[in-house]
Amino acid sequence: MSQRKIFATTALPYANGNFHIGHIMEYIQADTWVRAQRMQGHAVNFVGADDAHGAPIMIAAEKAGKTPQQFVADIAAGRKPYLDGFHIAFDNWSNTDSPANHALSQQIYRDLKAAGFIETRTIEQFFDPEKNMFLPDRFIKGECPRCHAKDQYGDNCEVCSSVYAPTDLINPFSALSGATPVLKTSEHFFFKLSDPRAVAFLTEWTQNGQHVQPEVAAKIKEWFGVRTNPDGSTSEGLDDWDISRDAPYFGIEIPDAPGKYFYVWLDAPVGYLASLKELLDRRGEDFDAYMADPDLEQYHFIGKDIITFHTLFWPAMLKFSGRKTPTRICVHGFMTVNNGEKMSKSRGTGLDPLKYLALKMNPEWLRYYLGAKLNGKNEDIDFNPEDFMLRVNSDLIGKYVNIASRAAGFISKRFDGKLGAVSDDGQALLAALRDAKDSIVASYEARDTARAARDIMALCDKVNSYVDANKPWELAKQEGMDARLQDVCSTCIEAFRLLTVYLKPMLPAVAEQVEAFLHVQPLQFADADRLLGAGHGIGKYEHLMQRVVVEQLDALFEPPAAPVVEAVKPGGEEIAPTITIDDFAKIDLRIAKIVECKPVEGSTKLLQLTLDAGEGKTRNVFSGIASMYQPEQLQGKLTVLVANLAPRKMKFGISEGMVLAASHADEKAHPGIYVLEPFPGATPGMRIG
Ligand code: MSP
Ligand code: ZN
Repeated sequence: MSQRKIFATTALPYANGNFHIGHIMEYIQADTWVRAQRMQGHAVNFVGADDAHGAPIMIAAEKAGKTPQQFVADIAAGRKPYLDGFHIAFDNWSNTDSPANHALSQQIYRDLKAAGFIETRTIEQFFDPEKNMFLPDRFIKGECPRCHAKDQYGDNCEVCSSVYAPTDLINPFSALSGATPVLKTSEHFFFKLSDPRAVAFLTEWTQNGQHVQPEVAAKIKEWFGVRTNPDGSTSEGLDDWDISRDAPYFGIEIPDAPGKYFYVWLDAPVGYLASLKELLDRRGEDFDAYMADPDLEQYHFIGKDIITFHTLFWPAMLKFSGRKTPTRICVHGFMTVNNGEKMSKSRGTGLDPLKYLALKMNPEWLRYYLGAKLNGKNEDIDFNPEDFMLRVNSDLIGKYVNIASRAAGFISKRFDGKLGAVSDDGQALLAALRDAKDSIVASYEARDTARAARDIMALCDKVNSYVDANKPWELAKQEGMDARLQDVCSTCIEAFRLLTVYLKPMLPAVAEQVEAFLHVQPLQFADADRLLGAGHGIGKYEHLMQRVVVEQLDALFEPPAAPVVEAVKPGGEEIAPTITIDDFAKIDLRIAKIVECKPVEGSTKLLQLTLDAGEGKTRNVFSGIASMYQPEQLQGKLTVLVANLAPRKMKFGISEGMVLAASHADEKAHPGIYVLEPFPGATPGMRIG
């Protein structure tokens, strides 16, 4: 087969959080597919990027006290340990705020405009009267106009997957302030998907069986059908797509439209091309020439929640701006953990990828486990710890690794590391293994790694039956059986090499260890067509993989320890040591009326209060509250007096008690002192307790 030229991507993750296990699943699926292509000698460029733009990131950055650029850069800096950790080998990782993406997005827009696909319209849009900004779709919530699910976002419904305008929501509210949004007019830019050319193209493109899985095509078809709008009218075909947002917005400016930005979903998929361009520029290759090759295949791996963007908007953007359209959109379902509970960080049911790595769990266990579950269909899969342990231990250790560990020792010790001739029964076994190649390669191509894993394990079973039938450990003890022992063990090593070829897309690091052990070049699928042959020398076998132990899984799902709290200091100081009620009773607190209040000559701090605590006489009290109150503000007010405090002689006279007031322990950092005032109804002389 001639060499294919492939450009592959995964969805660009929002740069507002770390990767979760769902992202890693997508990358493992795509990386496995890419490796399988390369093992056939095909040329693949595999790129990713952070999705930097949009209001949510702008708002999150503001909260974090950073510029959006800095915020995104900080998230990007954390990507590498995940990607390296799970052996995910992107050729380039960029972000959608790159100069390349600005330029390309604007160019695609200009081309769409020239082709008559852009229209401006004045629309009414939700505006948050408290925050003083147009509300991004994601920050308007309400009831879905189609299925009536509550608490849905303004752009699409997570329950029924329909896409709508925020103004279609029932009982909308601002997620930023809680305020009921008001409608305000603004000029917006639209991509005219309702144009008959777009409808015709997309109907053909999505339904011709070439570009998406059948179950995905069926779902898309519903979006073209007759729909009842919230106002009772019906529409057919596609709605135009609103592609502009008003400042303030973190995004790419629309050419010749001051204050207007591309909606994040316009420039996000262009990021695929921009990341590729960055890669090609770096290598000194020509991006336009690369893209112009009619044989170039373009694959996008995405999750089921972003189908509309990738099967309607994106192909249409490319088509009508005069560009190559994608070859395939490969849609996967969602990953859940522990019986389908939707992953949620707050509930701690997720599987933290970095914790997995920190526990020294083998990343290739996860690659294999997910591979063995993914079948190329748009179906959800679940991570189940017991299932994981069973699968990895019985398949990878019990069936696969075991073959090498049973045979390699004899080859090293008894035959100086040299393989011998393989006789007919061994040849028959190896031929069966070789014959499986095309079917396994086809499974990888279709992303049906579940079938590939099943077929490979069935081959492992065959080899293990051969070992059990020939019992090398008994041959080793028998006189005159050396040749047969070498024959059987060589068959095992040859078989093990073939199995390693087949597993390599899922287990790249293990395969590398095997290559070193067998003294062979990096394995390709074509290497399955031949044998190492008699006389080939192999190295010393070192254990390839540990078993999963239950303690690791317990630790992985153990809820994070409660954070160590520093001593809490309310108001700047710790709560004083405990006292008894009797201690408290010693303090006589009384309601007092401030009958008179005067400044103190010679003091900027003190006010002089004349207090009536119902004693038939008044008291004179000095209080350090002059920085906060004008005397006339306090006159006539009620407050709290410590009535049995020993009188104190001060520079300005005797103070007969103390007025209660609140202040922070660190007066410099938190200035302010606040006099206490009782609720209405209290009268002078009442005791407080
Ligand atoms: N930024 C957009 C994509 C723009 S592509 C031009 C986005 N980002 S995301 O971070 O929310 O999702 C990135 C990918 O992760 C999507 O393909 C999404 O489907 C996938 N997943 C998110 N949660 C997932 C699971 N629980 N399981 C599997 N994949 C999941 O959408
Ligand atoms: Zn809905």
